[in-house]
Amino acid sequence: MTPDLPSELQAALARKAEGLSRNDAAQRADTISQTYRSGGGSDRIRTNEDALAYALARMPATYAAIAASLNALVEVNQEFAPQSLLDIGAGPGTATWAAAEAFASLGAFTLLDANTALRDLAIDLAHANPRLAAMRYQSGDARRLLADTPEADFVVASYVINELNDTDRAAFADAIWAKTRETLLVVEPGTPAGYARIIGMRARLITAGAHVIAPCPHDAKCPLEAPDWCHFSQRLQRSRAHKHLKGAELPYEDEKFSYVILSRMPAAELPVRVLAQPQTTKIAVTAKICAADGVETVSVPHRDKAAYKRAKKWAWGDAVFPDAPAIPE
Ligand SMILES: C[S@@+](CC[C@H](N)C(=O)[O-])C[C@H]1O[C@@H](n2cnc3c(N)ncnc32)[C@H](O)[C@@H]1O
Repeated sequence: MTPDLPSELQAALARKAEGLSRNDAAQRADTISQTYRSGGGSDRIRTNEDALAYALARMPATYAAIAASLNALVEVNQEFAPQSLLDIGAGPGTATWAAAEAFASLGAFTLLDANTALRDLAIDLAHANPRLAAMRYQSGDARRLLADTPEADFVVASYVINELNDTDRAAFADAIWAKTRETLLVVEPGTPAGYARIIGMRARLITAGAHVIAPCPHDAKCPLEAPDWCHFSQRLQRSRAHKHLKGAELPYEDEKFSYVILSRMPAAELPVRVLAQPQTTKIAVTAKICAADGVETVSVPHRDKAAYKRAKKWAWGDAVFPDAPAIPE
């Protein structure tokens, strides 16, 4: 799937933004993002205008990060065909839209969130997607709501666990895993702190019986050591309105994110993962790779023509399967 918001969602957002003062929306979006940067949460989003400003500024990037994570999931488990989705801390419904796009099999969508302004916006936007007509959006604290929420084949928590403290996060990890019938995706900002939260949840749930599907090629302890951290980058195009809202000049932005996909069943085969943008010269492709036995720098020499040609296509975040077919000359 592409990192761009589905056209119906873009159109629905554009319709909602008609008549909106762009300067006012930019001011609101800026206040919200400053709140996040200083460790605050989504409770700064109080009104419909705040919710829309947040969605206009952040939905394209969070969607892009979720789409990249879903592509990694599909690559490793092509058989995955979930029927039910549970989107925890769903906000404007970003992960629900992305999952609906990735999995035609999905028919039941349950969303949980404490923020009523974001809930109202999500319900409004969902009218643009007939597949979401029957979605159920529960308002309240997910830690309480989860007790009465049925399990789902696929559970997503995107950009949510940063809003919980350490103690709550551990209990939350157990609660969302308990609701996961097959696969769980957790996405966080690609900062050292976001990675630390992902790695903490990964370790806890592996102990509880989970298997990593992506990005790691193993269930062992993450071999990266501070100041290094595992994160990825997804480029997305910015519309003129998006640029204005963010006070940005560039026609694109790169969303840095960390993620983990955990499953109740181990994958048949786990690819190694490219951990940074490889360097390509006429002599070799040099790449930082996470493999089953740790992180290593591999160099694929030009003289090894077929392998070099394949390696030239590697990009940060890519999965590399051992028996990748040779690229024809
Ligand atoms: C940064 S937003 C992300 C929204 C959405 N998942 C996305 O990726 O666009 C975080 C969301 O988590 C919700 N949230 C945080 N803690 C929560 C809790 N304990 N219970 C329910 N929702 C929560 C907030 O209300 C907010 O909508």
